[in-house]
Amino acid sequence: MKPNKHLLIHNTSQLLTLSGGAQRGEGLGSLGLIEGGMVVIEGERILAVGSNEKSFAKQFPQASTFDAQGHVVMPGFVDPHTHLVWAGDRAAEFEMRLQGKTYLEILQSGGGILSTVQATRNASVADLVSQTRGRAWRAFCHGTTTAEVKTGYGLTLDSEIKQLQTILSLGSEGPFELVPTFLGAHAIPPEYQQNTNAYVDLICSQMLPYLINWWREHAPDRPLPFVDVFCERGAFDLAQSRKILKKAKILGFPLKIHADEFDNLGGAALAAELGAASADHLVKTSIPDIKALAKSNTVAVSLPGTPFGLGEEDYSPAKEILKHNGLLALATDTNPGTSWCESIQFIIALACRKMGLTPAQAIAATTINAAAAIQCDTQIGSIEPGKQADLLILETADYRHLGYRFGTNLVSYIIKQGRIYPVKQPAPETSFMTGVS
Ligand code: NIG
Ligand code: FE
Repeated sequence: MKPNKHLLIHNTSQLLTLSGGAQRGEGLGSLGLIEGGMVVIEGERILAVGSNEKSFAKQFPQASTFDAQGHVVMPGFVDPHTHLVWAGDRAAEFEMRLQGKTYLEILQSGGGILSTVQATRNASVADLVSQTRGRAWRAFCHGTTTAEVKTGYGLTLDSEIKQLQTILSLGSEGPFELVPTFLGAHAIPPEYQQNTNAYVDLICSQMLPYLINWWREHAPDRPLPFVDVFCERGAFDLAQSRKILKKAKILGFPLKIHADEFDNLGGAALAAELGAASADHLVKTSIPDIKALAKSNTVAVSLPGTPFGLGEEDYSPAKEILKHNGLLALATDTNPGTSWCESIQFIIALACRKMGLTPAQAIAATTINAAAAIQCDTQIGSIEPGKQADLLILETADYRHLGYRFGTNLVSYIIKQGRIYPVKQPAPETSFMTGVS
């Protein structure tokens, strides 16, 4: 007998297709909702989407079926900004911040990012893979099917490459897909504190050219990684950021930037000018910079886990970004300093409360627009024929439970490239007080 090559997902309450491409401005939040919608998957791809049960049964008579049990089916979340690879933790700094020290004060006194740099430099690729795997797994179980992952805790050529090796190695394990970013310009390394321009020169004249050749040898079939810069007081100023990103652009790298997290240095407008894929953080962004972004295809990526993690009150001006017709996405910024959060569902809940997004807007910002922020929106981020079969089956019938509820994982099954991963035991019908002795 021929194996069933089709998988039919049926009995959904709401199928959120997010079809039609990245969503700009007030158009954000168009879910492409089909009540009782169905999806047919062939191998790793989506073959058909619709709602006519009879016609699907006729067209795909041999399909195996997956009963969504009256729940929401939607695209897998895409997390377009994480620093998932690091060694150690910074619980002690969390305590210091609660006692009054600021994030930038800790960084300037050699802690912060630099303390994770020390731990990461001392770790082997195998250590990093094993410390990162649990975080990747938890993100996946919360519904993130693809994540961007940055280097930036090495700050020497060898240790930055070690982080890239970790990303490639963990990504090759699957099913979680990882999209790499080189963030050699994450902080000024201790060796260059007195001569920051020399480190900028090192990145431009040695690290980036080396990376091109390294990538061709180690990942010849994959697009070049993004190049990112932390443009901030105490890290890289606007001129230094421009120099690094321009050099990266000449070499053919796609670009990203960390901009306006604590201060408005002009990084967002620089991203728009250079055609970066995204400008991220954007807490202190000025209206002219928001307008510059909105005129470009650069996606504004907001990271509400970061002010929340730092106990701060200012969040990205999402309403202004949308009012000016910008492209808005959301990400976790998973990192050991400001936002150790592996759940994009929690980010949705924050964005609804702190940035005034509706659940539908936050869902679009974590699927199709997030895919656009890592230039993968032709492959992932929506449920459309020809796209990769990356789907979630939630344990709720109403998509608004994303955002409304928080602290609970609402994903019960993940379909990644056509394979089904149950991530949760269903709640028991009767008593759950049975332990194992
Ligand atoms: O995006 N702001 C710079 N980088 C990270 C924080 C990294 C860290 O503190 O380790 C961020 O928030
Ligand atoms: Fe970041």
